[in-house]
Amino acid sequence: MKIDIITIFPGMFDSVLNASILKRAVDKKKLKVKIHYLRDFAEGKHLQVDDSPYGGGCGMVMKLEPILKCLKSIRGAKKAKKLILTPAGSLFDQAAAVELSKEKQIVLLCGHYEGYDERVVKFFDGELSIGDYVLTGGELPAMVIVDAIARLIPGVLGNEDSAKQDSFMDGLLDCPHYTKPAIYKKMKVPEVLLSGNHKKINEWRMQEALERTRERRPALFKAKVGKEASKAENRKDGGI
Ligand code: ADE
Repeated sequence: MKIDIITIFPGMFDSVLNASILKRAVDKKKLKVKIHYLRDFAEGKHLQVDDSPYGGGCGMVMKLEPILKCLKSIRGAKKAKKLILTPAGSLFDQAAAVELSKEKQIVLLCGHYEGYDERVVKFFDGELSIGDYVLTGGELPAMVIVDAIARLIPGVLGNEDSAKQDSFMDGLLDCPHYTKPAIYKKMKVPEVLLSGNHKKINEWRMQEALERTRERRPALFKAKVGKEASKAENRKDGGI
């Protein structure tokens, strides 16, 4: 997979791409990330990438021309999935990560200032937010998205099952995990995990995941229970 990132802060990506699993993904050639410095596509003495908003108001708006010029310079951009990062976008979640991990090439534009000239939107496939809070720019969200996608690319994680076991992959939060020692200052690991009975262990894990999800994320829980109920209903109908 290739990911092109359009940014005014290219240096922000250095450390993230040079550590841990992302570095391994790049080294194994499962992932190629190319950073495009937006200012390289700006014109005029000051290489301006933003300007004041029409209609007045505070803040600056990212200009249209440098973004479109940059987009034009990116190899394969026409066919790539092109997304803008903005708190006003639709929510990036695990399901979105799974969908994006199937793409060959993705272009991410890191939004800044008070936003971008709305006319750029029609050159992109969508706008994404990583959550209901406002960051200083789209760079951190771009890194979050690259990380979430990269670990889903086959061959990137050491153990293929790790990603399948994640929180959200099954529409539920992950269950708790424990490792050695079995007892630490009177705190014991749940007995069932030491039992060697895999059927029982799996049942315990599912129960814990359900309980956690119900407590911490009631909307997720409701969606999961609803889905399971309609699956059961379909099975029943099919059986008649
Ligand atoms: N830019 C600023 N805040 C953001 C967010 N929450 N998601 C995506 N892009 C952003």
